[in-house]
Amino acid sequence: MKFASFSVALAVLPFLSASPTYPKSGHHAERNKYPGLDVLAKRAGLLYFGTAIDNVVLNNTAYVTIAHNRSEFGQVTPSNGLKWMYTEPSRNVFNYTMANEIIKPAIKAHQIRRCHTFVWHNQLPDWLTSKNYTKPELIGILENHIKHEARAYYDKCYAWDVVNEAFNDDGTLRDDLWLQTIGPEYIELAFRFARKYTSPWTRLYYNDYGIERVNNKSLALQKVVKDFVKRGVPIDGVGLQAHFTVGRAPSYNDTRSALNLFTKLGLETALTELDVRVDLPDTAAKQKTQADVYAASVKACVDEESCVGVTVWDFWDPVSWVPSTFPGYGNACLWDDALKRKPAYYAISDMLRDE
Ligand SMILES: *[C@@H]1O[C@H](CO)[C@@H](O)[C@H](O)[C@H]1NC(C)=O
Ligand SMILES: *[C@@H]1O[C@H](CO)[C@@H](O)[C@H](O)[C@H]1NC(C)=O
Ligand SMILES: *[C@@H]1O[C@H](CO)[C@@H](O)[C@H](O)[C@H]1NC(C)=O
Ligand SMILES: *[C@@H]1O[C@H](CO)[C@@H](O)[C@H](O)[C@H]1NC(C)=O
Ligand SMILES: *[C@@H]1O[C@H](CO)[C@@H](O)[C@H](O)[C@H]1NC(C)=O
Ligand SMILES: *[C@@H]1O[C@H](CO)[C@@H](O)[C@H](O)[C@H]1NC(C)=O
Repeated sequence: MKFASFSVALAVLPFLSASPTYPKSGHHAERNKYPGLDVLAKRAGLLYFGTAIDNVVLNNTAYVTIAHNRSEFGQVTPSNGLKWMYTEPSRNVFNYTMANEIIKPAIKAHQIRRCHTFVWHNQLPDWLTSKNYTKPELIGILENHIKHEARAYYDKCYAWDVVNEAFNDDGTLRDDLWLQTIGPEYIELAFRFARKYTSPWTRLYYNDYGIERVNNKSLALQKVVKDFVKRGVPIDGVGLQAHFTVGRAPSYNDTRSALNLFTKLGLETALTELDVRVDLPDTAAKQKTQADVYAASVKACVDEESCVGVTVWDFWDPVSWVPSTFPGYGNACLWDDALKRKPAYYAISDMLRDE
């Protein structure tokens, strides 16, 4: 159960070494064992199990049917459509076509939305990166951008990733456009602007990768967040992206401890971009390890009181960002090339059913 104490939760750790069980076809009693990831996640006490969806694959009906099946996914994140280069391609000209291709069917399917992202160093439009703005000018650009996007999706986002990936792995701030021109206060300003223009019930998140262990990066972030909480800077949650690799993934304990850095501050947490890539070629043994990593990660969220849900960064191997970003790696998702559910899908389901 969601609110089991830490020690009780640890008592069920042996599940991690148990083999996942697979559905037996044609047997009625087995049929309801896999009612969908969101159905099982909600029963285990989470608010949602979700997925990111990208626009390039919306012409594939089989994919779309699963993506907007709310038994599988109670929450949806547009992978790209809400990034700056697409929403404000020219200064003060806003375009929500790509985002709406995903947000609108999600609303229709009663899937809640995590919106991603207001401020990032990447996927920025040329007009923003090809010119040096003054500090007041860039602050104005930042506020205007957040204002328009926040208003356009005023009551449509359960959460917004307000600032994405502001830290380096050593815990220093990333030396990007925002830091160079505005200084470290750009993070605080972004949260203040977000609170000013989003609905009062929209959860405002900081989102990053590599913070799924207690390390220099997660501790540096905790320090900043603690200061925000103390000074009343409006932040509601921290998203741990959870892009993992078979053989190098954080353990259940690692992720619990990292989540707890923010639980302790009274914040909400979530796993926002979970995937587990494989060093190709794939093998049955790697798929088994991958299944264990997926189940342990989701379990860490279920057991951590502050953790509201898990989002996978797409669910279908051929459309994952992994092969193009990490050459030699792939097969990071829950559904294989043939759109069949993989051992990791069943491992998560079995773990959730046992919670
Ligand atoms: C949605 O997913 C659930 C769980 O996998 C499945 O039982 C159901 O048939 C799916 N619905 C549609 C319309 O495909
Ligand atoms: C969808 O479009 C992509 C190119 O954008 C193409 O490669 C793919 O074959 C199309 N899929 C279907 C099912 O039509
Ligand atoms: C908005 O974006 C869509 C998708 O990228 C594009 O097809 C369309 O032309 C854009 N609209 C305008 C007015 O630029
Ligand atoms: C912006 O300023 C930096 C440092 O002063 C300089 O190196 C760069 O060329 C400038 N970029 C443009 C587009 O003017
Ligand atoms: C973590 O930070 C400490 C100083 O605070 C430094 O000595 C150490 O090298 C850092 N570790 C990594 C992996 O960056
Ligand atoms: C996980 O953490 C708990 C509590 O600190 C500890 O008792 C347990 O041995 C740890 N498990 C592993 C596998 O490290």
